[in-house]
Amino acid sequence: MTLDFLGTLQRSHYCGDLRSSNSGETVTLMGWVNGRRDHGGLIFLDLRDRTGITQVVIDQESSPEAHAKAEAARPEFVVAVTGKIRERGEGLKNPKMPTGDIELVATSLLLLNDAKTPPFPIADDGPITNEEIRLKYRYLDLRRPELQKNFLLRHKVTRAIRDFLSDNGFLEIETPLLTRSTPEGARDYLVPSRVHPGHFFALPQSPQIFKQLLMVSGFDRYFQIARCFRDEDLRADRQPDFTQIDLEVSFPQMATIFATAEGFLHAAFSAAGITLPAEPFIQMTYDQAIVKYGIDKPDMRLPAMVDLTETLTPELRETLKIEAALPVLGFTIPQVGEMSGTARKALLAEIRATFGDSGLDMLDVARLRTNATFVPLAEAIDGKLSLEMSIFNGSSHSTEDLGIVITPKLGTPAMWNYDPQWIYKRVGALRLELAKKYADKHKLFEQTGTAADFKFLWVTDFPMYEWNEEAKTWDAAHHPFTSPHEEDIKSGALVNDKGSVRALAYDVVLNGTELGSGSIRIHRKDVQAEIFRSLGMGDEEAHQRFGFFLDALEYGTPPHGGIALGLDRIVMILAGASSLREVIAFPKTAKAIDLMVDAPTTVSDEQLRALSLKTVVRS
Ligand code: AMO
Repeated sequence: MTLDFLGTLQRSHYCGDLRSSNSGETVTLMGWVNGRRDHGGLIFLDLRDRTGITQVVIDQESSPEAHAKAEAARPEFVVAVTGKIRERGEGLKNPKMPTGDIELVATSLLLLNDAKTPPFPIADDGPITNEEIRLKYRYLDLRRPELQKNFLLRHKVTRAIRDFLSDNGFLEIETPLLTRSTPEGARDYLVPSRVHPGHFFALPQSPQIFKQLLMVSGFDRYFQIARCFRDEDLRADRQPDFTQIDLEVSFPQMATIFATAEGFLHAAFSAAGITLPAEPFIQMTYDQAIVKYGIDKPDMRLPAMVDLTETLTPELRETLKIEAALPVLGFTIPQVGEMSGTARKALLAEIRATFGDSGLDMLDVARLRTNATFVPLAEAIDGKLSLEMSIFNGSSHSTEDLGIVITPKLGTPAMWNYDPQWIYKRVGALRLELAKKYADKHKLFEQTGTAADFKFLWVTDFPMYEWNEEAKTWDAAHHPFTSPHEEDIKSGALVNDKGSVRALAYDVVLNGTELGSGSIRIHRKDVQAEIFRSLGMGDEEAHQRFGFFLDALEYGTPPHGGIALGLDRIVMILAGASSLREVIAFPKTAKAIDLMVDAPTTVSDEQLRALSLKTVVRS
């Protein structure tokens, strides 16, 4: 088979754009063979480009040369076709294809390139289970319409955000990729310096310090679609190399930041065809989120937990051996429907097993029989609790809902000594596990393509510090540039009662995923130095790590604050995808490997010598 040259031929249309109104026009299309059907004298080629597919007909009688070439064409060959558009005959139209009313009758066909048989079908829309093969041949995976759609979406969303911020006075400014460590809680990716042996740059975990310095410089409003790098344990919503919509504002109130982020989220969703409701996102403090949802990123598509402590009399608590000082929590999973006695017992045992010796127990799991009445508790506890408990009072539930009640057993496990919220968090985790387990039934996680699918909220007043049980230290819960509440500075809590200090830090959460985090920053050197000290960082260490920043704070730093949202996460949720890998063009595996380019790799001795490095691999 001889291949053709393109010569001066130019494409006139995209494959997905042709309609009946183009009938009679002579057009030239270029793209990939999606499929080929040989009917002897007639060959049909489906020609694909990023916009869609057009059916091409090649008739041996009228175009013998084109027909001979079409005989040689195979899936994924690259071709150029010229011919006339004609309306398909009645009964031959395909209403499932946007171009299904027409076809292109070819007069000439060029075979621009051939193709090996791809390792997986490009034309099928179905899922490809072997993700390793997809990632190894990512350029082919990206050719598939599903991924093409995701990247068109990503482009539109990014553009809408960029436009919104530009229109609202934000300047886009780039910050360095070769820099030094920024404390965001992960490990750094390090880059050795050739000219300064033994010295390393760090790739930024975020542009945090630079954006604060841009406020010192008087830029007032900055943003960046910023690449960030974090060496941390990967999950479906974490990549080592990801993108933030990063911004900072001078003289802000928290409301300024919230309105900005909500504004660009509205614009981003609009670009994806979804109009979010005009009302501001709801707000909840961290403590409220823990008590109601057991997590700092509540999934508001599911009902909240209910505190049932008051429902149980002290006598009952004693009989049931329930720890008096701790809460009894219940929650429902909607629409689970009938459950046999055996299934109920199995679920009960399964949940109990996950509690191990944590000190938690479960009273029962049951279907709510009547609205706000939870009946079968009695059986599970030997008839001791024979009343019909109106435990889910006040909230409306259907009789199809599954109800769960968790109690703390007598005796306080060590966990509660330093984290009184532990019980809420554990029950909250169970709530999410069960919601996932029964997702097919309640269907609350299904996307219908409307604004109702997306439940946003702000979580505010995060704790300033979190206790690191391993290191026995207090760490910064957000990052050490976050300002505590003024009252907590004045009251001395920074020194005396770190666990109670609240930060002016906030997260924006969507459907149980943290989309973004930010804070009002410390703008005074004395407060910043005090925070470093409170984190166990001596003045000398603080100076060695952040001296340039502490110096900058001495030259008239305005009050400032900001936020960063994960662009990849926004697009992932909008695309209805379950992993960031579906919306990042060349992602890494869960083991932080790029299977396509095969990175990371070892380097030559010569390169190591030039960098004055020697590797010692420890197993
Ligand atoms: P934070 O560390 O919370 O805050 O990050 C902000 C947002 O970035 C996204 N994100 C990630 N996305 C994909 N893969 C990762 N490994 C990953 N890590 C974070 C999340 C997260 O909410 N400097 C602060 C922001 C600020 O205070 O202005 C920061 O980086 O969506």
